[in-house]
Amino acid sequence: MNTLIISILAQKGGVAKSFLAKLIGVELARLNFKVLIADMDISQQTTMRWWKRRIDSNIKPHVDVKSYKKVKDIEADMKDYNFVIFDGLPSTGDKTTSAKTMEIGYN
Ligand SMILES: Nc1ncnc2c1ncn2[C@@H]1O[C@H](COP(=O)(O)OP(=O)(O)OP(=O)(O)O)[C@@H](O)[C@H]1O
Ligand SMILES: [Mg+2]
Repeated sequence: MNTLIISILAQKGGVAKSFLAKLIGVELARLNFKVLIADMDISQQTTMRWWKRRIDSNIKPHVDVKSYKKVKDIEADMKDYNFVIFDGLPSTGDKTTSAKTMEIGYN
């Protein structure tokens, strides 16, 4: 499957990165694309919690969300999806740089 990566990255916190990741993810899933949101913030896991609430309440359309310690780990999963959306950390660092590099490399 061809996979398009969309990275929502900003070094500032609270600027709606997760909001945009969720909005774009849900709208693409509504168009029947298979979507994975990669929650990069393993300490907060806000998007993971949003996913659990959707699963518990059986809210459609279905969007997968997984939390990744390393951007490299996403490579094994991404072939199953039309879109992978990176929901970035509120900082720049290796993880943010790798997400951008992967976006440029695969798209
Ligand atoms: N379009 C919007 N209108 C009103 N409130 C919004 C909007 N988008 C986001 N918010 C609110 O702003 C806050 C921050 O949004 P969000 O969690 O998406 O930011 P973030 O950039 O992912 O933050 P963090 O850096 O902590 O991960 C949340 O309380 C969210 O409900
Ligand atoms: Mg966030």
